[in-house]
Amino acid sequence: MMCSLWRGTLLTLTSSLNRRVFQCCRQLGRSYNIASCMPEAVAFQGVSDHSGLYKFSVNESDRFWGAVARQRLSWISPFHTVQNCDFSQGKIKWFEGGKLNVSVNCLDRHVQTCPERVALIWERDEPGTEVKITYRQLLELTCRLGNLLKRQGVRRGDCVTIYMPPCPLAMASMLACARIGAAHNVVFAGFSSEALADRIRDAQSSTVITVNQGVRGGKVVDLKRTVDQAVQNCPTVQQVLVAMRTENTVPMTDRDVPLEEEMMKEDVVCEPVAMDSEDVLFLLYTSGSTGKPKGLVHTQAGYLLYTSLTHRYVFNYHDGDVFGCVADIGWITGHSYIVYGPLCNGGTTVLFESTPVYPNPGRYWEMVERLGINQFYGAPTAIRLLLKYGDEWVQNYNRSSLKTLGSVGEPINTEAWEWYHRVVGDGRCPVVDTWWQTETGGICIAPRPADPEAEIVPGMAMHPFYGIKPALLDTEVVTGDGVVLQSAQFPAFLRLRLALCYNQYCPLNCATPLLGFFFTGDGAHRSKEGYYQIIGRLDDVINVSGHRLGTAELEDVVVCTIIIMFGLGVYVFVVLKKAVMVEEDVLAQQLREMVSRSIAKYACPDFIQVVRCLPKTRSGKIMRRVLRKVVERNTDELGDLSTLDDPDSVHEVIRGHRRLR
Ligand code: WT7
Repeated sequence: MMCSLWRGTLLTLTSSLNRRVFQCCRQLGRSYNIASCMPEAVAFQGVSDHSGLYKFSVNESDRFWGAVARQRLSWISPFHTVQNCDFSQGKIKWFEGGKLNVSVNCLDRHVQTCPERVALIWERDEPGTEVKITYRQLLELTCRLGNLLKRQGVRRGDCVTIYMPPCPLAMASMLACARIGAAHNVVFAGFSSEALADRIRDAQSSTVITVNQGVRGGKVVDLKRTVDQAVQNCPTVQQVLVAMRTENTVPMTDRDVPLEEEMMKEDVVCEPVAMDSEDVLFLLYTSGSTGKPKGLVHTQAGYLLYTSLTHRYVFNYHDGDVFGCVADIGWITGHSYIVYGPLCNGGTTVLFESTPVYPNPGRYWEMVERLGINQFYGAPTAIRLLLKYGDEWVQNYNRSSLKTLGSVGEPINTEAWEWYHRVVGDGRCPVVDTWWQTETGGICIAPRPADPEAEIVPGMAMHPFYGIKPALLDTEVVTGDGVVLQSAQFPAFLRLRLALCYNQYCPLNCATPLLGFFFTGDGAHRSKEGYYQIIGRLDDVINVSGHRLGTAELEDVVVCTIIIMFGLGVYVFVVLKKAVMVEEDVLAQQLREMVSRSIAKYACPDFIQVVRCLPKTRSGKIMRRVLRKVVERNTDELGDLSTLDDPDSVHEVIRGHRRLR
């Protein structure tokens, strides 16, 4: 009952702190509700402001997360231990003893209070053809699908692979898995059949869910055909459920099950399974710095709690708002901030099927106007693309519904940040640059739009979220640059044996791993005020338009090449075997086809340079740092070359690069 007081109360502002609140309100052009910056239950434990609450969340971690978990989630039986973690052993357990069902938290409890509220708006490829689905309808779809999966033999603990574009049945499939205790493995529908087959095999799925065809940017994509090719090499697959996104019929085999037809035969009630907090909710594959992509595991309670909390407070989401995250459900952003976070909060979430430039570069903002989107969450790569088309495409549409603008996926440069803030948000919406990873499940570093003392510096991700302890490599240094390490002790960090791959990070000159922290792969700068700015990847993972790609993974396909990032693209250095005599453009075409077949189109190299040999250290390590400088045209700053084996190799690479220009 105390909570409801906090939820609804707009405080009268008198103290000096509150004057600052007023300033902030005036800046943002709206009133400030103190309840919007603090998880309500904790506010009663003698903590009254944001930084106090942050300190409480890291110092009194058990009390903080215990209170928030009891309050925000519906439990079938309560947990007895908040956390039981020993990261050195890879053990991460939260809310042990607790039982709950994620789909009940995302659906049933809202159906009880507001069945006709819109849960999801499916923004289909063709503008103006959106479909709205209420909580009651989404629960029905989920239950029918859950029953169908059970009829097809899917059991608790199985893993179902979902290869679908953003559509209501994709979302219902994820929730149906959660309802019956199966894990899901969503594979981005842009991945090739080989990449899909790898993931199906690794997850040992017996069931795949797909659509006949996808539609994106006015083009039809034959997704079922890709699945057909993939499952040829997947002995575990017994059935493929096929939904109809277009009217076109596609060849069906004995293995294929027409999804809509069969689910309509099922009951609209499906008993939710009581899951343990630490049972697997989903697998999601992501590129690492070595070899094949890894299937990261997230579990039930901690993940759901963390995504709902961050969704609520990072974006300042309130009941009745329309939340528009334009990611694809195939990435962690879609899982956390299209599906689980918003639905757990009883929100209205948008599922975007199209592209930022279809049918024209005004698409996002036309959609914002038509759907009345309040929080818009997108990627810097799209913002940079759109700003090139000019302000008119934005200004043609009414964006007065917008309250918060979010950015994710890669560092947002100042020009893009300012354009997003000034043009898209008319200078009145806070821009929240949110840093996180598939590993972390939810946002770790982001500004606090509802904080009375919030300052947002363009291009900076600013502050750690509640419970998050980032550290730069040299922990003695309060300000400065470094490698971002991050404490693994928060509820949404990845689970299972894979945690062991992350606890081994040994800084230079240090014999033992830094216990309790993991290496994020990113570099960062911390200002004297303690604000964080993420610089970008420091390991052998590259960021291609916000998509993560391991150099090792690409090099696996394009044997004997090295790939480094160049602005927004992929730059490949090829060393040919002596016997190969081939024209450079023929070679380039072949390499692109290979990558597209084995991974996905977005991973295709943009630039290809044939070299005799690569700059290597005397111990045989390729000096990627030097290659990167060459590609960035910073040849004056090549740095220390004393360990270089063959100095000519660098000059040759530079000459070749100049020739290409
Ligand atoms: C990597 C994680 C988090 C969901 C999308 C990508 C980069 C992500 C930011 C940001 C600078 C960022 C990092 C990170 N990244 N957000 N706001 N500023 N870099 O998830 O595929 O797991 O990639 O994306 O390099 O490590 P992911």
